[in-house]
Amino acid sequence: MKGIKRILIILGVMAGVVMILSRCMNTDDDLPKDIRGEAYTGAATCVKCHQEIKQSFAHDAHGLSSKPVYDQELLKVFTPDANVFNFDVHQKVVIEKRAGGIFQVAYVDGKEVRAEKFDMIFGSGEKAYTYAYWKGKKLYELPLSYFSGIRNWAISPGFSKQTFYYDRPIGSRCLECHASYVDKKVIQTSGVSTDEELERGTLIYGIDCERCHGPGRKHAVFHLENPEEKTAKFITIYKTLSRKQKMDACGVCHSGNSLVAQKSVFGFTPGDNIDDYYAQDFLGFGGGDPDVHGNQTSMLMGSNCYRKSKDMTCQSCHNTHENSKGNLKVYSQRCISCHQSTKHSEVTLAKGSLNANCIDCHMPKEASKLITFQQAGKDDLSPYLLRSHRIAIHP
Ligand code: HEC
Ligand code: HEC
Ligand code: HEC
Ligand code: HEC
Ligand code: HEC
Ligand code: HEC
Ligand code: HEC
Repeated sequence: MKGIKRILIILGVMAGVVMILSRCMNTDDDLPKDIRGEAYTGAATCVKCHQEIKQSFAHDAHGLSSKPVYDQELLKVFTPDANVFNFDVHQKVVIEKRAGGIFQVAYVDGKEVRAEKFDMIFGSGEKAYTYAYWKGKKLYELPLSYFSGIRNWAISPGFSKQTFYYDRPIGSRCLECHASYVDKKVIQTSGVSTDEELERGTLIYGIDCERCHGPGRKHAVFHLENPEEKTAKFITIYKTLSRKQKMDACGVCHSGNSLVAQKSVFGFTPGDNIDDYYAQDFLGFGGGDPDVHGNQTSMLMGSNCYRKSKDMTCQSCHNTHENSKGNLKVYSQRCISCHQSTKHSEVTLAKGSLNANCIDCHMPKEASKLITFQQAGKDDLSPYLLRSHRIAIHP
């Protein structure tokens, strides 16, 4: 009897161990695979537990910074009578819905000369959408962009206004800031010149959880197996990062386009040092004049608020999981949290209640020098306006 009891106990313990082990293995096996590697799992896993964040993420500019084209959504920005862009009396580009998709079709004297399909969207549309089409393993920018400020089509930034242009490649650099991953291969063309090939199937659109938080598979597995654990494990805790690390985590995409990437920025995770990824910014070096576009970091770092405070970071004003867009009162509260008393002159005070809006005076909108939009039949360019992050007494 004693022997049987002992065997039963041993069997029981073994069964328990097997169950625990298999539970571990299953949790991991059940999670979706991710093209970025074994440490990743994809946003679908994260939002299972972080529902509230899913709500904000889906409507958040980061989540929408790039996406494939869904015809129905694209049709929403159509103005029925204004889908033609005339370059001159001979040349035009027309947005046309055809079998198989929506196209930008170029005509010369009424004859079709080129048609390319809308495959991909860049931009959340807050300010603009730029579109791209695939040809083999390359992505190209379409001649027309949609500019929200004028609610209409305009020539894509930087393109000539003389004629339509379909051959500007969109490199992986755009995707490094606007997407979460793409497989790229550098191929030698002739001599020293190289070209890159992008694998369309590996593209992870938008900026997802793990792009900002780093790989989270281990974190997900742990919390699935330990639902009673309420303290986050195996994921970077933002508030434990140093000021530089916090600035770098945003700066990896908000430091402008003139930086030269040394290695794939897709591998950047919070806590990393940005200098390991980028070479020196020679254009902005030595007190140069950085463009406001995509470059909030150096503008902010040049202002006294940043230089003379110990702990200002992007998070002092932005909570990436809250949409405060356009709510200048909320932003002004963040200013007041450091500036309880201000010395404004009579002239300034006479301009009304200052507390509701510190922003328009101290962070005025500035036009990007690099990006403008050309409207049809107009000589002047529509500016692309951004908040200056050089907080100062502006004239
Ligand atoms: C099984 C549930 C679960 C899954 C799946 C999950 N998490 Fe979590 N996560 C938690 C719990 C529990 C906490 C701790 C409580 C809290 O902060 O909400 C947490 C906390 C966090 C934190 C806060 C860390 C801090 O600063 O305190 C981040 C960031 C995070 N998770 C990101 C992710 C990401 C990214 C994914 C997907 C790769 C993910 N989580 C998947 C359960 C989960
Ligand atoms: C992977 C690149 C990337 C990282 C990392 C990143 N951003 Fe962004 N961010 C973008 C891009 C691209 C846009 C423009 C999205 C659009 O409108 O299409 C953007 C937009 C924004 C906006 C404007 C949102 C709006 O509603 O108009 C804010 C604010 C912002 N980012 C703050 C931050 C902060 C703070 C961090 C660090 C915690 C950060 N970003 C990290 C790429 C990034
Ligand atoms: C643009 C970068 C960015 C993206 C994309 C992003 N996060 Fe965050 N997240 C942050 C930052 C920065 C914080 C820290 C905020 C702070 O401490 O002020 C944070 C905080 C969190 C927290 C802690 C709780 C909170 O609300 O502060 C959780 C949980 C979290 N993120 C989960 C996610 C999940 C899940 C996704 C994808 C659906 C995601 N994040 C996408 C930057 C990002
Ligand atoms: C260094 C990172 C970076 C690179 C590279 C980059 N962008 Fe952006 N882009 C941003 C950020 C940040 C914003 C948010 C607003 C701003 O600062 O201009 C933005 C805004 C945009 C917008 C407007 C979104 C909106 O509605 O507000 C479009 C469209 C866009 N980018 C397309 C592109 C294309 C196409 C390329 C490649 C030719 C590209 N970007 C390269 C970071 C980048
Ligand atoms: C983290 C704290 C902090 C926050 C948040 C903050 N500031 Fe400051 N700011 C400072 C400090 C510190 C100084 C330097 C004061 C000094 O020189 O004595 C400063 C200086 C200034 C100056 C003088 C600039 C100059 O060039 O002399 C202005 C104007 C200003 N801040 C406006 C703002 C506005 C507007 C906001 C919100 C958009 C803001 N600040 C947010 C800390 C902050
Ligand atoms: C002192 C407050 C403050 C700090 C710090 C701050 N921002 Fe902003 N940011 C703002 C305000 C105010 C706006 C305008 C919001 C609006 O119009 O809805 C803004 C807008 C933006 C936008 C949208 C583009 C535009 O110009 O409309 C981006 C992108 C952005 N911030 C990124 C960052 C990044 C990255 C950092 C850190 C390097 C940062 N911000 C630090 C106050 C701040
Ligand atoms: C109507 C435009 C305007 C508004 C609104 C405004 N400021 Fe100012 N601010 C100025 C000007 C101009 C100066 C330079 C002194 C002067 O002439 O009043 C100044 C000076 C400052 C200074 C430097 C002097 C000092 O007090 O140390 C700070 C800090 C400052 N402002 C913060 C703020 C904050 C915070 C808000 C919102 C609560 C705000 N300002 C709203 C225009 C404005």
